[in-house]
Amino acid sequence: MNRTPANAFLDIRSVAKAFGGNQVLEDVSVQIAPGEIVGLLGPNGSGKSTLLNVITGFTPADAGSVHFDGRRIDRVAAHRIVRTGMARTFQLPSMPAKMSVMEVAMAAATAHHGVFDTLVGTARARATERAARDKAAHLLQELLLTPVRDLPAAAISGGQKKLLGIVCALMAEPRMLLLDEPTAGVHPNLRRDIVAALQRLNAQGMTLVIVEHDMHFIRDVCTRCVVLDRGSIVASCRPDELASNDRVLQAYLGTAGAKPLATEGA
Ligand SMILES: Nc1ncnc2c1ncn2[C@@H]1O[C@H](COP(=O)(O)OP(=O)(O)OP(=O)(O)O)[C@@H](O)[C@H]1O
Ligand SMILES: [Mg+2]
Repeated sequence: MNRTPANAFLDIRSVAKAFGGNQVLEDVSVQIAPGEIVGLLGPNGSGKSTLLNVITGFTPADAGSVHFDGRRIDRVAAHRIVRTGMARTFQLPSMPAKMSVMEVAMAAATAHHGVFDTLVGTARARATERAARDKAAHLLQELLLTPVRDLPAAAISGGQKKLLGIVCALMAEPRMLLLDEPTAGVHPNLRRDIVAALQRLNAQGMTLVIVEHDMHFIRDVCTRCVVLDRGSIVASCRPDELASNDRVLQAYLGTAGAKPLATEGA
C-alpha cells in the first residue's frame, strides 16, 4: 500500500504517460513533504525528465493526478503552475539568441509574475523592476555569472546555461524547486557552490526535487531518494540505503535475486 505523508506538499498519484507505444511512466505515485530534498534517480531513459515535465505542466499525463500545496495542478498550464510557487530547470536549457544573460534573468521575473506588462510606466512598476533587477544581480553573483551578465545568453557555456537556468527558476521565488541534472557539465568547484546554495535555500524553507546521476551530490544534499526504473518507482529510501537496495541494484546493474519492494514511502 502506498503510504502518503499526511502533510504531502507535492502529491503525485498513479501517473501514467506513453509516447506512442512507449509506456514511459506507469502508475507512478510519489509524495513529498514540505522541506524535503528528494533525489529522483534512475538509469537513462527511465522517465525522470518526463515525470518532471508532467509535474510542471509541460507534458500532459494520460492518467493520474498531481496536487501541489493542496491544489490539483495536472490540468493547469505550465506558466500558471509557476505562479503557484513551483519552478523548475531543464536538463538541456536553450537560451534565446538575442538576449543577454541579465535580460534572460529579468524576462524570467516578468514571465513568472506578469507584472511589467500590466503596470508599465507606474511608480510601482519601476519599483518592482528595480527589485527584480537587484534580485537578478544578486543571483547572478551567487552563481558566478556576473562576469558574463552582458554576453548573449546563447553564447555562454553549457555549464553556465545550467546555472542561468537555476537563476531563472529562483527569480520566481518558488517554494518548491525541481532541478533536472543541475550539475551535469558544471566544474567541481562550482558544484560545491551549487550544493551550498541549495542547502541554504532549503534551510530557508524551500522544498527540492533533484534529478541527478552524481552519487556524491545525492549523498551530500538529499534527505531521501526515489528511484525510477523503466517508468515505475522501485525504491524510496535514504541515500545511504541505495547501495544495499536490491531493486536499485537491479535497475542499475541488472543483478539477479531482487526482492519485490513495497511501494513509495515504504
Ligand atoms: N516528447 C517525447 N516524445 C517521444 N518520446 C519521448 C518524449 N520525451 C521522452 N520520450 C521517451 O521517454 C523515455 C524516457 O525519457 P526521459 O527523458 O524521461 O528519461 P530520463 O530518465 O530523463 O533519462 P536521462 O537520464 O537520459 O535524462 C525515453 O525512451 C524517451 O525517448
Ligand atoms: Mg532526463
